[in-house]
Amino acid sequence: MATRIGIDAGGTLTKIAYWDEKKEMSFQSFPSSDFKAVKEWLETNHSLASICLTGGRAAQLKEYLTSINEIPYIVEFDATMNGVMHQLKEEVINSEAAIIANIGTGTSIHIMQGETHSRIGGTGIGGGTLLGLGSALTGIQNYKDIIEQSKMGNRSSVDILVSDIYQNNKLPLKGSLTASNFGGVALKTHDTRNSTDMLAGVQGIIGEVVATLCIQAADAHQVEDIIYIGSTLEGNELLQKIIESYTILKEKKPIFLEKHGYSGAIGALLENN
Ligand SMILES: Nc1ncnc2c1ncn2[C@@H]1O[C@H](COP(=O)(O)OP(=O)(O)OP(=O)(O)O)[C@@H](O)[C@H]1O
Ligand SMILES: [Mg+2]
Repeated sequence: MATRIGIDAGGTLTKIAYWDEKKEMSFQSFPSSDFKAVKEWLETNHSLASICLTGGRAAQLKEYLTSINEIPYIVEFDATMNGVMHQLKEEVINSEAAIIANIGTGTSIHIMQGETHSRIGGTGIGGGTLLGLGSALTGIQNYKDIIEQSKMGNRSSVDILVSDIYQNNKLPLKGSLTASNFGGVALKTHDTRNSTDMLAGVQGIIGEVVATLCIQAADAHQVEDIIYIGSTLEGNELLQKIIESYTILKEKKPIFLEKHGYSGAIGALLENN
């Protein structure tokens, strides 16, 4: 029976962080399309807990949980930053200043300097793109299936690399960089291109767009660390690898936290202490 609970109701997933009987932080998530399951989980096991809400769908969830009075709310970006700082401390990662990219349904980009933070940008390319474009291209809808299949894919027939264009010329930049995401589908003949390759290509778009924006933000603000969070990284080693290698190539330091998607929920839980 949890006594305190933090809930981050996002566009796709509702994440919950709570202290369990052993006073350890525990986690649970539900699709945001299923507030009924959230309510049942709360009522069955945690009806006496005090709750703090955050996230874009917090107001909707609050309305749905009418039986519980006066649920406090914390602004999403504050909750997320507090959750990130808590995890950095727990994982003994030292970062004075960092760009933070929250790869949720869409992607929100922030800068954290000491105790202060502000939102500096974002892109509509995010986890929703992985699910939506992935399913439009292959018919596969389940998140786990999409990431598992994408791991088996090969991007070489989907994308065009710099080395594909500069075939016998002296390369002006690294040949292994992507010159055109999905350009290969138009320009390369390839009979064997299959759905796993397409999904790997979608992961490539997301990772490279998000990393590129973060690297530019890091350059503009003269910081080295880039912290990548959001449930889109959950179990998604391919996306992590794409982001990691590009960030390192551009001489920045990529940081991934253990509880990728739970920073907002952790921040809401800690606010509730
Ligand atoms: N079990 C799952 N079901 C669906 N999507 C999942 C699942 N696990 C991870 N994901 C991925 O995580 C993404 C959602 O990430 P996250 O939970 O951080 O966003 P959100 O908080 O719901 O959205 P936002 O912050 O933009 O409002 C999905 O778009 C999908 O790519
Ligand atoms: Mg979110």
